[in-house]
Amino acid sequence: MDLIEAATRVRENAHAPYSGFKVGAALRADGGAVHVGCNVENIAYPEGTCAEAGAIAAMIAAGDTRIEEVAVIADSPSPVPPCGGCRQKLAEFAAPDVRVTMATTRGGRQTLTVRELLPGAFGADHMDG
Ligand code: THU
Repeated sequence: MDLIEAATRVRENAHAPYSGFKVGAALRADGGAVHVGCNVENIAYPEGTCAEAGAIAAMIAAGDTRIEEVAVIADSPSPVPPCGGCRQKLAEFAAPDVRVTMATTRGGRQTLTVRELLPGAFGADHMDG
């Protein structure tokens, strides 16, 4: 399944009445399954969750643990990058060379790796010793 198409579809289900900014995310796990998520806002604003976090939660709930590819889409003048927290969440389950394609509903595309999105990431090796 095309990841941008999957992200585009799930974006329609986003609950974003406060920002008005709907985001869809799709990721392919190492077994080939595609998991999707959308942003889910809350009247208590900090309780809202990002599309990427939703897709990761769906992946883990489905029993997959490794991300091979990611797509994120929003209606924006330029491709929307994952927020800082979501970069760290992606790095938990994706190798540094995993590609993250950021798309706009207007046809914009930009692809960066997890390493490029989160250089110098805090990782398990930092806790050695
Ligand atoms: N948002 C995402 O879901 N993913 C991103 O990559 C950027 C921001 C959401 C959070 C919030 O619901 C809305 O977009 C505005 O920040």
